[in-house]
Amino acid sequence: MKAIVFTEYGSPDVLHIEERPTPTPKDNEILIRVCAAAVNYGDTAGRNFGAITPRTFNMPGFLWLPARLSFGWSKPRRAIQILGNEFSGVVEAVGKEVTLFKVGDPVFGYRGPNFGAYAEYLCMRENDTVALKPANMSYEEAATVPYGSLMALGLLKLGQIQRGQQVLVNGASGGMGSYVVQLAKHYGAEVTGVCGTPRLDFVKALGADHVIDYTQEDFTHNGKTYDLIFDILGRSSFAHSKKSLTATGRVLYASFKTRQLLQMLWTWITRRSQRVICAMTSAKRDTLIEAQRLVEAGTLKTIVDRCYPMAQAADAHCYVEDGHKQGHVVITMG
Ligand SMILES: NC(=O)c1ccc[n+]([C@@H]2O[C@H](COP(=O)([O-])OP(=O)(O)OC[C@H]3O[C@@H](n4cnc5c(N)ncnc54)[C@H](OP(=O)(O)O)[C@@H]3O)[C@@H](O)[C@H]2O)c1
Repeated sequence: MKAIVFTEYGSPDVLHIEERPTPTPKDNEILIRVCAAAVNYGDTAGRNFGAITPRTFNMPGFLWLPARLSFGWSKPRRAIQILGNEFSGVVEAVGKEVTLFKVGDPVFGYRGPNFGAYAEYLCMRENDTVALKPANMSYEEAATVPYGSLMALGLLKLGQIQRGQQVLVNGASGGMGSYVVQLAKHYGAEVTGVCGTPRLDFVKALGADHVIDYTQEDFTHNGKTYDLIFDILGRSSFAHSKKSLTATGRVLYASFKTRQLLQMLWTWITRRSQRVICAMTSAKRDTLIEAQRLVEAGTLKTIVDRCYPMAQAADAHCYVEDGHKQGHVVITMG
């Protein structure tokens, strides 16, 4: 099969097409012919992992070493040389124990840190994070749903959102934030999305009630208060955000450093009414099925900005990293 491969860390130019063996499904696995895979944060960060230091790593510094070792110290390990963590495709073959899928089923799924979706074929266990593709979405659209919706559904549960609350999403235009905005609206909140200038219209189109351009305005200075500040990159400081929280408000960090972990501990120990939550979530098949239903009910949508063929994967990564995208970017296979 053809795969988009990177054998060294670096700029988008390290992505190139190679022939790799087509995987063979085990008894409990399905072989999927990949139609489309999205370009998201995990792909660009993974490709560039060689340049990420403990300081620039988006999680506590002590997790950098295990992460770097698992990616590969000086170059990516062979097992992760094919990036792509969310995809859509068609079931091409099934192992003899598979009961949940049949040949020809349209599916979408999430590979997480195993990557492997930038290829013409991949195998998943039938009870991995893979489900029937939403019927009302194209393959290109469906490939952009799993990562963001899984993370948003998992993390928003920890945020204990309630109808009528004021929610601010810092990083509303990204892979995760675009689903946090839509779900927070679905749960009945009034939503403010914070993003960069080119993506203000995208965030409005997702349903945000208000948008703030972080290059023009610091939301901690506008005098408004929120019940939940959902900070995706962990860029806001709790010391500054406190005055933007209601008396019982919470800041939920999806990316956090040791300092924010200590703040979480401190706000719990001292029983402060304003809380810090440093939250992690994992991908589950049931949550993906929930996302599929939300898409089919019209609650979740996606906006695909551009699609690139496999041969232009480097251009797709450049487009994302240069900050031009106004929606999701997809690579189509085959
Ligand atoms: N906790 C968990 O379980 C979990 C799971 C997966 C991922 N993560 C974390 O989530 C992060 C990636 O999220 P993502 O996929 O949504 O990333 P993404 O697609 O790259 O989006 C990043 C968002 O942050 C915004 N942004 C950039 N600079 C900003 C600033 N200075 N102030 C405010 N917003 C800013 C971007 O806005 P513009 O693009 O409009 O400029 C964009 O909306 C990573 O740090 C990863 O570690 C956490």
